[in-house]
Amino acid sequence: MKLLFLNGPNLNLLGSREPDKYGTQTLEDIEKLIKSEAAKLNTEIEFYQSNIEGEIVTKIQKAKGIFDGAVINPAAYTHTSIAIRDAILAVQIPTVEIHLSNIHSREEFRKTSLIAPVCIGQISGFGSNSYILGLYAIYNYLSKKNI
Ligand code: DQA
Repeated sequence: MKLLFLNGPNLNLLGSREPDKYGTQTLEDIEKLIKSEAAKLNTEIEFYQSNIEGEIVTKIQKAKGIFDGAVINPAAYTHTSIAIRDAILAVQIPTVEIHLSNIHSREEFRKTSLIAPVCIGQISGFGSNSYILGLYAIYNYLSKKNI
């Protein structure tokens, strides 16, 4: 099984960025965590981060035929990006949306996700464990489909 982990803007600053909300682990720490967990599942992972909406759209487009599933933390694009939503719809790759913080307990503008309606589901509020839960969510979903 091949899975793509997509990370949106400012997640490259994890570790130093608002640690009270997002924790002290860096994105590289989380990538290592995911790759060691995925190895137990015999699953291949590509981890990708971009601050640029169009680059994320292009990455999703190119994922078609290569990746069986995706896990996305769209970061601020969660709340604004019709382009990322349309890209997921276009490629039809099963996708799970994740967030470190609980977006439903924060500012009003964070409570709406344009991405979640085109995903299998959303995991929000478990810190870096949201990434692990996202891995298991997509893994279990695809395993039932025998991929
Ligand atoms: C986030 C939540 C978003 O609202 C915010 O813009 C982020 C991070 C999270 O993981 O909690 O950048 O996606």
